[in-house]
Amino acid sequence: MPGAIIQFDHVHKSFGQRPVLQDFSLSIEKGAFLTIIGRSGCGKTTALRLVNRLICADSGRVLVRGQDVARADPAALRRSIGYTIQNVGLFPHMTVEKNIAYVPALSKSPLWKGEQRRLRAAELLESVGLDADLAGRYPRELSGGQRQRVGIARALAAQPEILLMDEPFGAVDEITRRQLQDEILRLHQARDITILFVTHDMEEALKLGTQVLVMEQGQPAQSAPPSVIMASPATPFVAQLVRRSRDFTPRQ
Ligand SMILES: Nc1ncnc2c1ncn2[C@@H]1O[C@H](COP(=O)(O)OP(=O)(O)O)[C@@H](O)[C@H]1O
Ligand SMILES: [Mg+2]
Repeated sequence: MPGAIIQFDHVHKSFGQRPVLQDFSLSIEKGAFLTIIGRSGCGKTTALRLVNRLICADSGRVLVRGQDVARADPAALRRSIGYTIQNVGLFPHMTVEKNIAYVPALSKSPLWKGEQRRLRAAELLESVGLDADLAGRYPRELSGGQRQRVGIARALAAQPEILLMDEPFGAVDEITRRQLQDEILRLHQARDITILFVTHDMEEALKLGTQVLVMEQGQPAQSAPPSVIMASPATPFVAQLVRRSRDFTPRQ
């Protein structure tokens, strides 16, 4: 598909005897905000981890910018793809600034040395709604919401074209969660970035996604803009998710 930045092409993935993704095909347009929802264990995390090659497909192909990830250099691939997970996984023994600078520092870019590093980290902290003064703190000295924001800043540090987010706001309170949702919407609108965002919350999927993917038994049950999902659910499972959120205003 022209304009697709990520393509799953008839992907199969099993763990042991258990098939997780079966003949999974999907195209994701450059600049899309794809939200992914489905029952626990249906393969959402597996789909995400195939994109940055933390795991490999058994058969079929995953293409990023038209290139088969099986043939890409995994380190270079991961530098170009930001990844955030639920409990962030910040390095506990590093300050916030060092955590943020970690990935770009791997490429030894002069843009991330000394004073430059300080300035860039401050800029990123502000872009996710944090005070730049937090740069010198350690992760244990932050609240859950602040840690989550630092995780996003770190994922954005190398200016990735693609951001993978796996239930990133699952562990924070409701108010912080709404603020983080608004923050990530703003970042998506301000930057030329494609986001894949796994959630178990249908309203979050409808609020954030330009495209919502509902997964069922290792396959896409439906992939469509939120207004289409709400108006014409393709399967009984999608209809059930929609029914619970029928009064919700989706992203336009
Ligand atoms: N590394 C692994 N080894 C064995 N089984 C796994 C592994 N990763 C995931 N699974 C299994 O694959 C299925 C799908 O997992 P996952 O993609 O994490 O689901 P989801 O993110 O939708 O909850 C689950 O049954 C899970 O237990
Ligand atoms: Mg998961």
